Amino acid sequence: MKATLFRQHGGPAVLEYTDFPTPQPKAGEILVRLRAAALNRMDVFVRNGWPGLILELPHINGADGAGEIVGIGTPLPEGEGLGRRAEPVEAVKVGDRVVINANLGCGKCDLCLNKQDNLCHDWHLLGETVRGTYAEYVCVPARQLYKLPHNFDFHAAAAAALVYQTAWHSMVKRGGLKAGETVAIVGAGGGVNSASLQIAKYLGARVIVIGSNRKKLEQAEALGADILIDRSKEEEWSKAIFIATKKRGVDVVVDNVGTTFPLSLRALKKGGRLLTVGNSGAPRFEIDNRYIFAKHLSIIGSTMSTLADFAEVMDLVVAGKLKPIIDKTFSLKDAAAAQERLWRGENFGKITLEIP
Ligand SMILES: NC(=O)c1ccc[n+]([C@@H]2O[C@H](COP(=O)([O-])OP(=O)(O)OC[C@H]3O[C@@H](n4cnc5c(N)ncnc54)[C@H](OP(=O)(O)O)[C@@H]3O)[C@@H](O)[C@H]2O)c1
Ligand SMILES: [Zn+2]
Repeated sequence: MKATLFRQHGGPAVLEYTDFPTPQPKAGEILVRLRAAALNRMDVFVRNGWPGLILELPHINGADGAGEIVGIGTPLPEGEGLGRRAEPVEAVKVGDRVVINANLGCGKCDLCLNKQDNLCHDWHLLGETVRGTYAEYVCVPARQLYKLPHNFDFHAAAAAALVYQTAWHSMVKRGGLKAGETVAIVGAGGGVNSASLQIAKYLGARVIVIGSNRKKLEQAEALGADILIDRSKEEEWSKAIFIATKKRGVDVVVDNVGTTFPLSLRALKKGGRLLTVGNSGAPRFEIDNRYIFAKHLSIIGSTMSTLADFAEVMDLVVAGKLKPIIDKTFSLKDAAAAQERLWRGENFGKITLEIP
């Protein structure tokens, strides 16, 4: 098959569009002929590498993908996996159109069996420690697939899968965001942020977006953002939030930047929740502990979602209640240019790859 892979960690130049053996489905797995993949910031982190990340090279980036089923592995032996209901090698057929859930629980441990597969003891993320979707074909366990309606666009599905489930689990299941609450989102156009904005509006929350420039803020406004703060003009944006909320602060901050935690903690009202799934800024920074106890704040971390959350949020996506935003589409062989665009922060919404 054709794939864009890397043989060593490094900058975008290590990405190579080349031939690679087509994977074969093991028991319980499905072979998907991918038509679209979508980028995540994690792809660049993995390509660059980090201390302790040990991959079998060459590695293929990519957590998100959608396409058609072309091969089906044998059913898992009795007693393995999540039981018949969630063990659907028999529930799919060649030709089905599917989108992949990259959150790979083992399917066997107590947490997977308890439907908490994103807490799995042997958790993996497709494209991170397992070869991913920048390729014509990928194999995944059958339970990782969501069947798409016949007319649903593969790029929209790939663009939705990782960020909507992440934002849904963080905001709804972990953060308990409710109608009428005010949420501030740190960043306008990122994949997770643009999904978070839509989910917050779907839930009936009031949304403040802190964006890097006017153009991105206008795009956020078109998606329903109620209050816009341009951080190129208001570096201390927690003050602008203070003014916009009549000195109360917000109920919830979505902060996947990390280095902005000091501002986010200041922006929260008493009893507020800081929701985080990432660290686009940096993983280490200082915070002032006094804000946390004096204001009764909660910092709530989350990663990906469960199989049930994924199905729940993808149902909303295919029903048109949440609309994936595609920033730009590149060809699979131009994945390096696509990653450069993401890394420079030029995107509003998701960057996808066309897999011919
Ligand atoms: N744990 C999980 O399950 C999970 C899942 C998905 C992603 N993540 C992580 O979440 C983070 C976001 O991922 P992504 O794919 O959405 O990335 P992305 O598309 O590259 O978006 C990055 C976002 O961060 C904002 N930003 C960057 N620096 C900022 C700063 N100094 N101040 C304010 N905002 C800033 C950008 O704002 P503008 O748009 O305004 O420029 C943009 O909205 C990454 O760290 C990723 O690894 C984690
Ligand atoms: Zn498990």
